Amino acid sequence: MSEKIALMGGIPVRKEPLIFGTPKISEDEINEVVATLKSGWLSTGPRVFRLEEQYSEYIGAQHAVALNSCTAALTLGLEELGVVPGDEVITTPLTFAATVNVIVHAGATPVFVDIEPDTLNIDADLIESKISERTRAILPVHFAGHPCEMTKITRLAKKYDLLILNDAAHAIESEYEGKKVGCWGDITAYSFYATKNLVTGEGGMAVTDNDDWAENMHIKRLHGISKDAWNRYSSEGGKLYDIIYPGYKFNMMDIQAALGLGQLEKLDRHWEVRKKVVEDYNEAFRETPELIKPVNKGPIRNGYHLYVLRLKSEELGISREKFIEALKAENICTGVHFLAIHHHSFYQTNYPQPAGSLSHADYASERVFSLPLSANLTDQDVRDVIAAVKKVIAYYREQKL
Ligand SMILES: Cc1ncc(COP(=O)(O)O)c(C=O)c1O
Repeated sequence: MSEKIALMGGIPVRKEPLIFGTPKISEDEINEVVATLKSGWLSTGPRVFRLEEQYSEYIGAQHAVALNSCTAALTLGLEELGVVPGDEVITTPLTFAATVNVIVHAGATPVFVDIEPDTLNIDADLIESKISERTRAILPVHFAGHPCEMTKITRLAKKYDLLILNDAAHAIESEYEGKKVGCWGDITAYSFYATKNLVTGEGGMAVTDNDDWAENMHIKRLHGISKDAWNRYSSEGGKLYDIIYPGYKFNMMDIQAALGLGQLEKLDRHWEVRKKVVEDYNEAFRETPELIKPVNKGPIRNGYHLYVLRLKSEELGISREKFIEALKAENICTGVHFLAIHHHSFYQTNYPQPAGSLSHADYASERVFSLPLSANLTDQDVRDVIAAVKKVIAYYREQKL
C-alpha cells in the first residue's frame, strides 16, 4: 500500500510550504542596495551604466540597454526592428502573455507556429510555411532556458529578409553553438523579474550589436529625451534637453542595478546549482512513465530556468490541476509554464487558430507543470520535491489498479 497523500488527510512531506521560485540574494547585494539608497542617487545612474557594461560583456554583444522589464525590451525591440501595423510576427504559442501582447500593441498580427514536442520551443522546420508577404520578424522564445534552433532560424531570416527578436526571458546563460542566444538574431530581450535567473525585483535588458538601435532604445526608455537624467542634473552635464521622440518610462533604477550587479557576478555559480537540481530531478524521475521529462537537444547550453514536466494525466487518471493541488497539500508549490496563448479568451476571440493546427502546444498546455528550480533550494528541499511527486504518483497509480 502506498502512503496516504496529504490531500486525502495524510501527513504532508514537509511542514512549511516550499515557495516556487524564491531568488537567492546575498548579504553583499543587500549592502549594495543600501549603499545606493544612502548615495542619494536612486534612479538611472552610475550603477545602471555599470550593469549595462558588464552585461553586454557577459553576453558578448556590443550594447546593453537596461530597462524596467523584459516586456519593455520586447516593446522597444519590435519598434527598432520596424514592426508596424499590418505586419506579421512569427512566434510560439507556448509562452508568457508579454511575448505576444507586445506584437498586438505594435499593431501587428501574431502568427503562431507549433512547438517541438521535446524541447517545447518553436519548431524551426515549420516556420517557413507560415512566412507571408507581410512577415517582418521572427520572435523565438528560448523556453525554460533551452535555446531554439538558431542556425535554422537565422538561415530563414536571411532567405526572406526577416529580423529576429529573441525573447530570452528564461535564457541569460543559454548558448547555441557556443554563443549566447543574445549573440544570435538582431535584438534580444531579457527579464530580471523576481523569479528569473538574475533578479532585480522587476527589470530587464535589451541587447544588440546595432549602434543606432541601442542609442534609440537608450533615448526611448526615458521619454524620448535626448539626454538622460544623469546628464541633466549632474554637475558635468548640460541642463538642456530635447524630446526627440514620444518615448516611454521604461528605465531601470540604480536601486535595481545595485542588486543586478551582484547577481550577475554570481550568475554562473547559481547556474551550476540549478544544473545539479535538474540532474537530481532527471535521475529521480527516470523511471516514472507518467511524466514526460525535459531534454537537452543539439549544440546547446541550457540556461536551466524552469524544470517543466508534462503529466500524462490520462495514464495517471487525474488532471494536471488535481496533481498540482495534491503537491500543494504536500507543501510543494509549482508553476504552470504556460497555458498556450491561443487558449486565452482575448486570443481565442481575435486570433482564432484552426483546430489541431497547434497540436503539440495544445498537448503541452494541458499537461505542463514546473517544479521549484532556484539556486536557493537546499538539498533537503530537492529531496522533499522528489518525495512529494513520487508519493502523489504512487498514490494515484494504486487508485487506478
Ligand atoms: C517568456 C517570457 N517572456 C517575457 C516575460 C516578461 O518578462 P517581464 O516580467 O520582465 O516583463 C516573461 C516573464 O515571465 C516570460 O516568461
